[in-house]
Amino acid sequence: MLVLGIESSCDETGVALFDTGAGLLGHTLHSQVDLHAQYGGVVPELASRDHVRKALPLLRSLLAETGVKASDINGVAYTAGPGLIGALMVGAAIGRSLAWSWGVPAVGVHHMEGHLLAPMLETPAPEFPFVALLVSGGHTLLVRVDGIGAYRILGDTLDDAAGEAFDKTAKLLGLDYPGGPLLAELAQQGDPDRFHFPRPMTDRPGLDFSFSGLKTFALTTFQKHGSDPQARADIARAFQDAVVDTLVIKCRRALRQSGIGRLVVAGGVGANRALRQGLDALADELGGEVFYPRLEFCTDNGAMIAYAGAWRLQAGQQQGLAIEVRPRWSLEELDAVSA
Ligand code: KG4
Ligand code: ZN
Repeated sequence: MLVLGIESSCDETGVALFDTGAGLLGHTLHSQVDLHAQYGGVVPELASRDHVRKALPLLRSLLAETGVKASDINGVAYTAGPGLIGALMVGAAIGRSLAWSWGVPAVGVHHMEGHLLAPMLETPAPEFPFVALLVSGGHTLLVRVDGIGAYRILGDTLDDAAGEAFDKTAKLLGLDYPGGPLLAELAQQGDPDRFHFPRPMTDRPGLDFSFSGLKTFALTTFQKHGSDPQARADIARAFQDAVVDTLVIKCRRALRQSGIGRLVVAGGVGANRALRQGLDALADELGGEVFYPRLEFCTDNGAMIAYAGAWRLQAGQQQGLAIEVRPRWSLEELDAVSA
């Protein structure tokens, strides 16, 4: 089954073609980072308008590049939530309408399901069950995954998401938007021994996270030492070390408690090199395995939506003709797909 996937939940327009037999045929992406950078964050209305402008040209170039004809496509998957409502509406309206005009079924995909299944596009793909660490701009979740759609949330953030904490801390250090990758770069020049930030919520049981205190810690440290030119890099380093350590501690706990040896990491912060080193060391320590998507599939993309949607469509799930999105939507509400 050949499925077109469309991602438009935030500031990236992604389209991809995934075939349940042949695998990923191609994908293409347009990032709106330059559009939003001057405002220091995503402007929802500008995001929606840009998705309108880019989705169909991206699809045309993907079809030309892969040699796939529209008539070869057997189904359409689009991100139905969670995300920015206007941005979601654009992808849903385009996806649902294309499916209707082509006479094929359509399915709305949960954006975080896309992220957590993204490592399945790699070889070797993780087998079920696994524990997934989802660390993006909007979410920080530990999820037990027993199959496609069989998700149990083990831990969640009580305040900021990991990526959001990276972005806000980067902003207060004077870095551009989105600051996460820039902060990670700056941290490389930082002294790991100068400042020590807390590891929030690691001294009590449970798998929930809280990152907003770290941002405040970074702010007060910056106010005290800001006049020293080296302080920014040292603060970036202390902040990143604290986030990475906290995530590693909670992953260790989740793997031990669930008795599962496989860890899957996904979402934009999953591209962070220090986090990958920390989790690789954890897998060695526990004799387990850790799976990552390729870097371009850590952040938002159409391939993960085409993948998740293809298995749902193949199992017979599909949406009615109404164009519906869900800006708020828990992973635990999804229907399981039997293998
Ligand atoms: O998954 P994603 O592309 O979008 C959401 O669904 O949120 O994640 C974007 C987030 C941003 O907060 C960005 O700063 C962060 O991922 N990010 C990073 C890195 N690359 C992206 N954070 C830390 N280190 C990185 N290398
Ligand atoms: Zn995302």
